[in-house]
Amino acid sequence: MAKEYNIAVIPGDGTGPEVVAEGVKALDAASKKLGFSLRYTYYDLGGERYLRTKEVLPDSVLSELRDFHAIFLGAIGHPDVKPGILEKGILLRIRFELDLYINLRPVKLYEGVYTPLKNKGPEDIDFAVVRENTEGLYAGAGGVIKKGTPDEIATQESINTRKGVERCIRFAFDLARRRNKQNKVTLCGKTNVLTYAFDLWERAFYEVAKEYPDIKTDYAHVDATCMWMVKNPEWFDVIVTDNLFGDIITDLGAMIQGGLGIACGGNINPKGVSMFEPMGGSAPKYTGKNVITPFAAILAGGMLLEYIGENEGAQLIERAVQKSLINDIKSLDAGKMGMGTKEAGGLIARYILE
Ligand code: IPM
Ligand code: MN
Repeated sequence: MAKEYNIAVIPGDGTGPEVVAEGVKALDAASKKLGFSLRYTYYDLGGERYLRTKEVLPDSVLSELRDFHAIFLGAIGHPDVKPGILEKGILLRIRFELDLYINLRPVKLYEGVYTPLKNKGPEDIDFAVVRENTEGLYAGAGGVIKKGTPDEIATQESINTRKGVERCIRFAFDLARRRNKQNKVTLCGKTNVLTYAFDLWERAFYEVAKEYPDIKTDYAHVDATCMWMVKNPEWFDVIVTDNLFGDIITDLGAMIQGGLGIACGGNINPKGVSMFEPMGGSAPKYTGKNVITPFAAILAGGMLLEYIGENEGAQLIERAVQKSLINDIKSLDAGKMGMGTKEAGGLIARYILE
């Protein structure tokens, strides 16, 4: 019997719905080609709903999300809503409450894509960042006293649990094995200054490493990591790091792989439901113009298929994207693809079905 999967779709704000529509086209093409079926349930979450109803993420929706095979997210963020409300209330809440403790962000330069790095090509830029996704400075520890006065004190503490750090590191080692490229994991930290948090990370890292004698270990401070990502990106295979460092270095990663139009990520709970998204935001200035680049969302759809067990579908999507980048797509900047958002998505779907 053909396999059936239930997918929750959260198109979200701005250009989110436009790129998600193209991602769904690719998913549908892959499922048609391979004979499995995807049933979508759409959730209206984001800035528009919040402005209309003051609802951010109803508890009932959150509990429904747990029952899907995967979640496909567009973008969250609205110019008329104070920063933080939607990000914390939707995106971070889903990450935390569904315990999506891995944020996996591939940094891969596809053939045919422009990188700002001089003399670097697809053979040099192909690594993955494993970002811890539920702790660190994102955990919300800290507080403020005497707010608004000259004596104001604000603290924000980084939470690092042995359990949280260890499971993230283990995921990174498993990934290095699965990739089977350089078989190397680099811990990205700041052991010279953050001597409590990254001491824990470092000890956990080398202890877990003992279980993986086939995988090489490497360490780089976060500032040096940024430098090497630009100077010698070919040194990296899998990078594992905490939540904030991972947030920052993956924006740099997105730029060296061609921009936010192609960078995607998975918020993963290896034993539960995971959520896949393009890394880019809601891009209000491009909304509704059919100019936004949909490849990040399409590739996020590919990652989604991989994680529900439809590997072949994931490969079909990736190959179709690669083919269009070599043959058809002029640039990954919004409005410069040489075709519209819908046309690019249509092209990918055709390539998948070929
Ligand atoms: C990301 C984003 C989010 C983050 C924001 C929107 C809260 O930048 O997914 O990288 O900081 O994690
Ligand atoms: Mn970010």
